[in-house]
Amino acid sequence: MATESMSSSKKYLVTSALPYANGPLHFGHLAGVYLPADVYTRHLKMMGKTAIHISGSDEHGVAIMLNANKAGVAYQEYVDSWHKEHKELFDQFKVEFDFFGQTSSDYHEKEVIEWFHALNDKGLIETKETQQLQCQDCHSHLPDRFVSGTCYECGYENARGDECPNCGILIDPIRLLKPQCQICTSHNISPVNVTQYYLMLSKFESEFNSWLEGREVVWRNTVFPFVKALCKDGLQDRAISRDLDWGIDVPLAEARGKKLYVWFDAPIGYVSNTKKMLEQSGETDPDAYLKDWWQNKDAEIVHFIGKDNIIFHCIIFPCMSMASQRALPAYDVPANQYLNLEGKQFSKSSGWYVDAKEAIDTVGADALRYYLLSILPETSDSSFTWSGLQARLNGELANNIGNLVSRCLKFWAKKWPEGLKAEHFQGFFDSDIYKRLQELNRQQHHLIEEKHIRRALESYMLAGHEVNGHFTELAPWASFKTDPDSAAKTIGETSLMILVLGAMARPFLPDLSEKICKCFGLSFDDNTSTTLESIYRGDFDKIKDLVKEGLSLAESPQILVPKIEDHLVEEMNEKLKAKTSES
Ligand code: 2FM
Ligand code: ZN
Repeated sequence: MATESMSSSKKYLVTSALPYANGPLHFGHLAGVYLPADVYTRHLKMMGKTAIHISGSDEHGVAIMLNANKAGVAYQEYVDSWHKEHKELFDQFKVEFDFFGQTSSDYHEKEVIEWFHALNDKGLIETKETQQLQCQDCHSHLPDRFVSGTCYECGYENARGDECPNCGILIDPIRLLKPQCQICTSHNISPVNVTQYYLMLSKFESEFNSWLEGREVVWRNTVFPFVKALCKDGLQDRAISRDLDWGIDVPLAEARGKKLYVWFDAPIGYVSNTKKMLEQSGETDPDAYLKDWWQNKDAEIVHFIGKDNIIFHCIIFPCMSMASQRALPAYDVPANQYLNLEGKQFSKSSGWYVDAKEAIDTVGADALRYYLLSILPETSDSSFTWSGLQARLNGELANNIGNLVSRCLKFWAKKWPEGLKAEHFQGFFDSDIYKRLQELNRQQHHLIEEKHIRRALESYMLAGHEVNGHFTELAPWASFKTDPDSAAKTIGETSLMILVLGAMARPFLPDLSEKICKCFGLSFDDNTSTTLESIYRGDFDKIKDLVKEGLSLAESPQILVPKIEDHLVEEMNEKLKAKTSES
């Protein structure tokens, strides 16, 4: 994949799909979107680049209305509580955002209205007469998921008014067989004529196509050909209004009672949240979010999403952005495939899910981040299993990094509590491993920048193996008996390799990284962070200052990577079984 030339004013505008404030997030969301985006942005920031990571809750749409109604709470209260819940989960997973806003907020509505008018002024919004289902008992209009029925393509009985979960087609609700109102359960449903607002994508086709051609060199081969195929019969105009009572009003006097479709307002959330972030950081220019970011040619826009969101991020939102001229279209859209649970899609309603909060309380953020990053569905679907987590964690992270750090640093703490001398560290700077670590460090950077996060983690683990090999070969526990000074040198040089591994771990495993660095009296969170950032960037010579007077351990290593016991895997599998049989 090509990397375009870098200029010093270059910045990165990283977005993660706004999660619906409508139920718990599962590992599929984390692995598909938030973890890779977090690794990518953390890396850019550590490299000294100007980068922001923007997301927030997606709070409109029929699915949310149905669930809020079911729960018997007001829409705002319902989305606020999921928003809070999601933020807490991201904190626990150490997924960092520069801003995580809400699409039900006033600042978001204001921005959406600007976009609507800009598109309308360009002649890209028109009304069309169309047929829509209406319940003859409760009189509700039934867009999207307000109606269910039997799919006219595959015969599946629980198809929704927007798509069939069985065969995946976009449903024309008028054609659903045996339609049923999801509000009052009535089957007494008839089509009525209504007027809706349409985004006239057909009018923007040639501009869109010329832009799309330029994306071929950058986008993944699971994304570009898919988008090409979606566009092969031309761009379809899309209804962007709905007859609902939750959402943003269509901002025209004659459109009373109509709301904007959730997928019209949601991606604008990236822009409105950037605006809000700048405002909160004291920016005084109210247009800075556009001039410095969304309309800035030097700002590379990267949308991390799951594959089900491709059409919106690769076709509709780029058209909205270019046509309204409020934003530039995306540079890259690293869409991921699905992460399943033991081969089947996560499903809360059928009990086929793992409570992410409970999982993190049980095994911790590092363990889950490591496992999920090691199975990221970047090129094909992948699967979470508890036994897979145990195998990866015990066999890889604990063996490779955890044991290495504790064997080496514990030996140091025990034999040289007063510290090692400068000369004991020198071997590191002269070693072949120094060069090899630099090479693997560069490889890690390159792979993260190309958004091959899973391979970047593999490259990191390879660095761990190299250090392990070196340590095992020199066997300081044996040489100590006859030549303690040579053992001290092995410990000194291996410890500095461990420090490098600690810094390199930061984008993937921020907690583990911090624990390792703290043993050396360094932290990414205080004024020693510049040293660690230099190490991360490959300037290992910065370590010379740290050891020039000798060094003693600042903290003794704790258990860094606790092993996952068999009984825990059994318990987790039992829980999953119990949940599926309950539902
Ligand atoms: O699929 C989803 O979960 C949507 N809430 C993603 C929205 S992304 C963006 F456009 F806001
Ligand atoms: Zn009804």
